[in-house]
Amino acid sequence: MNHSWVEINLERLKQNIRTLKASVSPETAVMFVVKADAYGHGLVPVAEAAAQEGINWFAVAFLDEALKIRAALPEVNILVLGLVLPEHVGELLEKRIFPVVTSLEHGLVLAEAAREKGRVLPVHFKVDTGMGRLGVQWNEVAEVVKVLDKAGGLELVGVCSHFARVDPDQPDHASTQAEKFYEALKYLPATVFKHLSSSRAALYFPSWDLNGIRQGIVLYGYGANDSKGRFQTKPILQWKARVAQVKKVPADFAVGYYGTYRTEYPTQIATLAVGYADGYNRALSNKGDVLIGGRRCAVVGRVSMNWITVDVGPNSLIKVGDEAILIGEQGEEAIWADELSKICRTIPYEILTSINASLERRYA
Ligand SMILES: Cc1ncc(COP(=O)(O)O)c(C=O)c1O
Repeated sequence: MNHSWVEINLERLKQNIRTLKASVSPETAVMFVVKADAYGHGLVPVAEAAAQEGINWFAVAFLDEALKIRAALPEVNILVLGLVLPEHVGELLEKRIFPVVTSLEHGLVLAEAAREKGRVLPVHFKVDTGMGRLGVQWNEVAEVVKVLDKAGGLELVGVCSHFARVDPDQPDHASTQAEKFYEALKYLPATVFKHLSSSRAALYFPSWDLNGIRQGIVLYGYGANDSKGRFQTKPILQWKARVAQVKKVPADFAVGYYGTYRTEYPTQIATLAVGYADGYNRALSNKGDVLIGGRRCAVVGRVSMNWITVDVGPNSLIKVGDEAILIGEQGEEAIWADELSKICRTIPYEILTSINASLERRYA
């Protein structure tokens, strides 16, 4: 085994889903956000496991992801959060996939494509309440809905918005966004399916659950691990490698490119077959830890393209072939993506989605 690999605990995913579902009303659909290859966990196996646990809404960024889900799960609802082009309207209709209308122009071209086929396309409508990304400005919704209605070809079956900032201690920003969303709802049919909250909003603000909550990161086990939120979940992904070489080195031995680490004492350096080409962030050079033999070992020297080097200590019995944990747990110790993300000054989302998709995913 040369390459590192990823292990996904689908049982734990199901447990996370059960925990989340138990904390929301049965009338609120849990919509699972599985874009970016299910946040690096592997789209189809994750979606299939979630469907077994009763999830029947999936949200993705692009049509190709939606088509992969449809091929595996013929009955579930699928929503494409990103821009779908008019040339794909036939596919949307045939495969029963909901696009999100993100602007007047976008709505009009989708409507025209549907009319040309003599069909009506069911769509969700995105309201921009403060994210400044995709969507119709909340105070232009009345006008845009009127124009789209007149054009014909679309049926508004859903409406959504996305929070830019959710902070339970400073709720003003999110509250203002929610108010704008409720204002926009006045101009849409009352029966429309309404969804607003992503993970943090659902965790801290149950009153915005509406008909559905779009949940990503918490179902992968991050962001919901303290008692302040209304549910707790656990990480489901582990990233592992094997020790490729162990060498005894003297004190003042330079390790890696540009010798950024010099040993203080005679020790042993283990080389693992994982590097930044696999998604192991270079910012972990001389900063991260890995677990081997149930102990934390420091990543020493620079992370290189395919290798990292760790100080396993002078007396370690670690040998070639031993399992090393880059993300995950071993014995009493654990290193999760949020620990790595702090070192790398990023977010767990980026750590997870950076793990190279070509690495083997094993599901249990
Ligand atoms: C529109 C939209 N809704 C929901 C989510 C899910 O967010 P989270 O993973 O924080 O729950 C995302 C993710 O970026 C998103 O873009």
